[in-house]
Amino acid sequence: KITDCLERLKGSGLPQRDDLIALLSCADEKELKPLFLAADARRKAAVGDVVHLRGIVEFSNYCERNCLYCGLRRVNRQLKRYRMSNREILEAAFAVKAAKIPTLVLQSGEDSFYTTEKLCSLIQSIKAETGLVVTLSLGERPRNDYHAFREAGADRYLLKHETASPSLYGRLHPDSRQENRLQCLKWLKELRYETGAGIMVGLPGQDAAVLADDILLISSLKADMAGIGPFLPHPQTPLAACPSGMVLPVLTVLALVRLACPTINLPATTALSVLHPEGRKKALAVGANVVMPDFTPPAYRRLYDLYPGRTAGSEDTELIMETLKKEIICCGRTLQVTT
Ligand code: 5AD
Ligand code: SF4
Repeated sequence: KITDCLERLKGSGLPQRDDLIALLSCADEKELKPLFLAADARRKAAVGDVVHLRGIVEFSNYCERNCLYCGLRRVNRQLKRYRMSNREILEAAFAVKAAKIPTLVLQSGEDSFYTTEKLCSLIQSIKAETGLVVTLSLGERPRNDYHAFREAGADRYLLKHETASPSLYGRLHPDSRQENRLQCLKWLKELRYETGAGIMVGLPGQDAAVLADDILLISSLKADMAGIGPFLPHPQTPLAACPSGMVLPVLTVLALVRLACPTINLPATTALSVLHPEGRKKALAVGANVVMPDFTPPAYRRLYDLYPGRTAGSEDTELIMETLKKEIICCGRTLQVTT
């Protein structure tokens, strides 16, 4: 019974895989309601009502990889590529600071144009000139790079593990190995980064057992953050004809991660907002406590084309921030801002 599984999951200690599978197999919103309420209560007790904001700057859409799901994949020749200059990146960082957001997320495709030296000097100047908390999301790099970025002042690193299933990982990533990705995550933890893992929900070939393993992996990695959003098929990829992920399974995974890892940071992802106009509100109601507004300059934003619909109606940053603040306060939550 769902209610018995939920009772066990609400207890402390490692969740049972079978209990996770039972809840992840349920597609009845009414039956899942107690899970969502439990996750919201756990969120409130463990991390409170504050919603953390992270300003994201996508500074290069060049990528050397060919992940089957992603619009930035190397062989997508229809996409115009860009790299922001150091000055443009710094200006975007200042815009994050001006919006009273304490954390900057620097994200790009896997782009070896950015050597260790270039990135370290960029991180150093951002730290020196803005004092922002710096989160990196640059994909897999050698351990020495992660070490150098940390020395240069980087505080956090996001590297979604994408899926815990070795076979699914292999099929989706023709040019990257799961062992290396997991190794990278362990290095990041060793180097004392606040480390983010995460997945797409609704990938073709993913089932409840895979999602249960994802949740157990996020827990065993001791991830400090987990990015959880739906898979959205991109027309210029081999997965164009696959169905997109659904809202309810995303909310179920969010809620279960909140129960399994009470103090973790869970963003309400942009991908969920693309799937449903109230996606952000829904995520915040079932365990999420982070929102990541986009501070990429508008000219580049639409070119960071991971999945379709990502930048629809997101033109003016000030307007986005106003809407966001109202929505968060309206949900009975508080905003984290720098003073
Ligand atoms: N649907 C949803 N998320 C995607 N990402 C890439 N492509 C897609 C897609 N089609 C996410 C991946 C990756 C990040 C860069 O974007 O999870 O970690
Ligand atoms: Fe590149 Fe990341 Fe997209 Fe893979 S998911 S193609 S590594 S940007």
